[in-house]
Amino acid sequence: MDPEPTPEDLDAEGEVGWPAASRRPAGEAVDDVGLRPRRLEEFVGQAELKEHLAIVLEAARRRGQAADHLLFAGPPGLGKTTLSGIVAAEMDAALHVTSGPALERAGDLAAILTQLEEGDVLFVDEIHRLSRAVEEVLYPAMEDFQIDIVLGKGPAARSLRLDVPRFTLVGATTRTGLITGPLRDRFGLVARLDYYTADDLRAIVVRAAGILDVELDDQGAAEIARRARGTPRIANRLLRRVRDFAEVRGSGVVDHGTAREGLRVFGVDELGLDKVDRAILDAVCRRFAGGPVGLSTLAISVGEPAETVEDVYEPFLIQLGLLMRTPRGRVATPAAWQHLGVEPPVDAPRDEPPSLFS
Ligand SMILES: Nc1ncnc2c1ncn2[C@@H]1O[C@H](COP(=O)(O)OP(=O)(O)OP(=O)(O)O)[C@@H](O)[C@H]1O
Ligand SMILES: [Mg+2]
Repeated sequence: MDPEPTPEDLDAEGEVGWPAASRRPAGEAVDDVGLRPRRLEEFVGQAELKEHLAIVLEAARRRGQAADHLLFAGPPGLGKTTLSGIVAAEMDAALHVTSGPALERAGDLAAILTQLEEGDVLFVDEIHRLSRAVEEVLYPAMEDFQIDIVLGKGPAARSLRLDVPRFTLVGATTRTGLITGPLRDRFGLVARLDYYTADDLRAIVVRAAGILDVELDDQGAAEIARRARGTPRIANRLLRRVRDFAEVRGSGVVDHGTAREGLRVFGVDELGLDKVDRAILDAVCRRFAGGPVGLSTLAISVGEPAETVEDVYEPFLIQLGLLMRTPRGRVATPAAWQHLGVEPPVDAPRDEPPSLFS
């Protein structure tokens, strides 16, 4: 009994960490679809965002028009894609899904826009990755519901202006900083999703347990919520892992003890940090003596793409006060040393704001 997770366990069960999308087991994707709230009232938390959205959608419905364009920004797994589906459902409109990198040429976007019907919702995921040429087509489409198509090449080229139906663009981005000003300005509502509170996450876990038919008690739910990095996707994932653990090693019921033990086996620590989170802290603290260390060096040393470290891991480590971004690079805080259970060296970076822990 009492097994430590082996590397094989963690690899086969890549979802415990943050695997590339391609490694996500098919069964989980199906589960995910079932867990997505479909209506605004089922969407837990983000009270302010929900209120703004409810007003915008209700007003559009009363006017019988397509809703204003909406931009959802925030770290992965907080519900941006879910909200795009909710917008379409609340407006009783068809949802078309694409993404920034998928729209390679201006013609790709034009083809989609001309196929829309009045009131449809077009969801563009990772909208910060649109090419400049595609963005240029999007501007007049968003503002005047018109696009300019260039026919032919060279001196004989002609430009043709086409009307597109009034649609609602819903954009999602993990990086507001990378959205160009002109694009941002064309959204009627820019909503930022924040990390969820433990209470909201508990409600999300309880809801998911109901859908997945998992027997879960209050303390089990609270333990999973507390370690879910403020993120519903992770809360749902931890619930599934703990359910597996409870079925295989326990009585099938997820109580406090089972949740704690299951999370430990899958390498999720008290703060909800996983292998890669800890590898990042470990690299900054031990290999780079507390920093500052540049993002790309740090990413290489933990074997993850720089973009993943920056978008997925860092925001939460910063939010927990374990890591700081400084102009010279990433720096570990005293809390990071404390979490790793090691004494900071005397010459650890100290030119940063005083911490509560020192
Ligand atoms: N407010 C919420 N209430 C209940 N469940 C939620 C909520 N937000 C997200 N979820 C759950 O979390 C999962 C992830 O959400 P979603 O895919 O919408 O995140 P995302 O912000 O689009 O992430 P990414 O940036 O990686 O695309 C969903 O499958 C859904 O089940
Ligand atoms: Mg998404």
